[in-house]
Amino acid sequence: MEYAHIPVMTNELLHFIESSASRGAGILVDCTVGEGGHSELLLSRFARLRIIAMDRDADILEAARRRLKPYAARIDYINDNFSYISRHLDTLRGKIHYFLYDFGVSSFHLERSGRGFTFARDEKLDMRLDGSGVSAYHVVNTFDEKRLADIFFRLGQERWARRIAAAIRRARVDGPVGTTGELARIVLRAIPKKFHVRNIHPATRVFQAVRIFVNDELACIEKSLGQAYRLLASGGRIMAISFHSLEDRIVKEKFRRLSRGCECAEGERDCRCAGEGLVKILTKKPLRPHVEEVESNSRARSARLRVCEKL
Ligand SMILES: C[S@@+](CC[C@H](N)C(=O)[O-])C[C@H]1O[C@@H](n2cnc3c(N)ncnc32)[C@H](O)[C@@H]1O
Repeated sequence: MEYAHIPVMTNELLHFIESSASRGAGILVDCTVGEGGHSELLLSRFARLRIIAMDRDADILEAARRRLKPYAARIDYINDNFSYISRHLDTLRGKIHYFLYDFGVSSFHLERSGRGFTFARDEKLDMRLDGSGVSAYHVVNTFDEKRLADIFFRLGQERWARRIAAAIRRARVDGPVGTTGELARIVLRAIPKKFHVRNIHPATRVFQAVRIFVNDELACIEKSLGQAYRLLASGGRIMAISFHSLEDRIVKEKFRRLSRGCECAEGERDCRCAGEGLVKILTKKPLRPHVEEVESNSRARSARLRVCEKL
């Protein structure tokens, strides 16, 4: 079976597992198992590793289950959002040696899900990873112009956010924007041609923004990391791979707060945490993939890995 997704930064992950206190023995929670690329590699490499594999998308979790059948005795599955890890894993508090996050969506979502994650295919706008909440169709067709512009600007860092939102509002007069193709064409026309960047589709940032909004992706990361820290054994490691600066900033800030002894969530008032660091940060700057990896897998080009260890 050909898998759509190629796992990224595998050598770096192996290094952080091999160099840890338990050297690949114990429990790893793969919070974003996807089609199981990382998990398959880790189970084949570390004979004393058990994996708890999680994904909020039931379809892709099924694909992982089929792929990882040879390792069935060492793997359990949870179909849920990683922002609820404590709910599932509280009985293992202090006994988990690794948490792995590989944020965003899988190539499976882009190429095979049929849920409208990309302008590269003409599909109905949806973009939900687990069918919950509002769809991309609902956002694009019912949110007012200001709210749309805010989403494109905040979650896509799109400088033409207002022009694009106005173009969507005008297009809706003739009927709903139903497909990825229609949305991509509206964005393409709204951004002046001289600002189109070669090799990057002008709708890239808008699609990213809508996807992040629909799945509430940033809040999920913020909620999950604190729980992962509490569930981890001492000497255990959290390894997080981000694909854009908004994700990476949340990981960086969370690790930094933990390293200063603060367990509060971002923006929490009346923080009284003080003193002893709770984790050691093992990646002062995020690690980037090697050139050879980017050459063989272009999706790896924006990956950044951060790792911290519980003290
Ligand atoms: C980049 S892919 C993971 C690829 C995987 N590491 C591999 O090697 O095949 C990200 C996966 O995370 C899942 N995901 C995204 N947000 C999630 C969340 N909040 N909770 C659980 N799974 C999530 C997506 O459904 C997707 O399958």
